[in-house]
Amino acid sequence: MVEPPGDRILVTGALGQIGTELVSELRKKHGNDTVLATDIREPDNDRYFPEGPFCNLSVLDGEAMEKTVTDEGIGTVYHLAAILSATGEKNPELCHRVNVGGTVTVLETARDFGLKVFVPSSIAVFGPDSPRIAPQKATLNPTTTYGKTKVTGEVLGMNYFKQYGVDIRGLRYPGLISWKAPAGGGTTDYAVDIFHAAINDGHYNCFVSEDTRLPMMYIDDAIMATEMIMQADGSSLGTSRAGYNIRGCSFTAGELADRISLRIPEFTCDFNPDFRQKVADSWPNDVDDNPAKDDWGWEANFNLDRIVDEMLENLRKNQSS
Ligand code: NAD
Ligand code: SER
Repeated sequence: MVEPPGDRILVTGALGQIGTELVSELRKKHGNDTVLATDIREPDNDRYFPEGPFCNLSVLDGEAMEKTVTDEGIGTVYHLAAILSATGEKNPELCHRVNVGGTVTVLETARDFGLKVFVPSSIAVFGPDSPRIAPQKATLNPTTTYGKTKVTGEVLGMNYFKQYGVDIRGLRYPGLISWKAPAGGGTTDYAVDIFHAAINDGHYNCFVSEDTRLPMMYIDDAIMATEMIMQADGSSLGTSRAGYNIRGCSFTAGELADRISLRIPEFTCDFNPDFRQKVADSWPNDVDDNPAKDDWGWEANFNLDRIVDEMLENLRKNQSS
């Protein structure tokens, strides 16, 4: 492997739900100027990172990626740019182009410049034939375009690790719940949107059925898992290094609405499933994350009650400030 051009960190898709929080955490740990936030979009006022550098970068532009890596002295890439499941079902060609094409751009650059890479995977790698509590090792037959791109991402990642020694690491994130940035066009967005609706309107029209149960995780746990796997000794990572299952909690849309009602008694919720129900039904109810626990010590902190308390408290504070 060649020596990387430097030890700075590049984050793709940095203006999204995860990037908004990951960039801040990485900057706290490594210093503001060390972390270069990039996205295809221009930052708006709400999601601008005034404490450190930002530049426009499309993950489909390999030349621009290489130039940025060399000019900016990059050693590590957190590759978050993607099209999520619901948007992907509406525009499968874009989803395939960005998710697979973008990952190839990042992996090729990583091979040529000796970079360490984080590429997130998803519970969407599982399909209807997976056990409802999905094990780490399962036959991966996703029905969505998004899920197929995530399986391809894991396979590509393992190939670049085995053939070229690229230090690739990845997590199969569950649906992520956060309050700083909106969810970005996924099927699990209802578990974020419901909090905004509860506070602003006292009512939510949920696009999946009351009994839809999916694996979920609070953003703080997801950021912690990301940092943990990136810091883990490479020799402790097994054959799942491109996509470890990580468990946060698992609950139905109805249970989530009930927990919010306990805290906001006037809150009401209707359940009117749309096309995203089919996507949700193809995913597991929960995941088994024993390999992540065994290999690098993973353990989540947030259960459903704690997530609901944190979300309501932070959204209210944010509104009143
Ligand atoms: P998001 O949709 O909120 O953000 C993605 C970002 O990528 C956006 O800011 C978008 O502008 C950017 N982008 C799109 N096309 C681009 C391109 N060509 N070049 C550069 N940037 C581009 O997504 P997120 O929720 O932050 O997800 C980040 C990663 O985590 C994705 O790989 C996603 O599949 C994965 N993931 C997310 C969740 C979740 O619940 N949020 C769950 C599982 C996996
Ligand atoms: N939260 C993501 C989605 O719903 C799962 O990867 O698309």
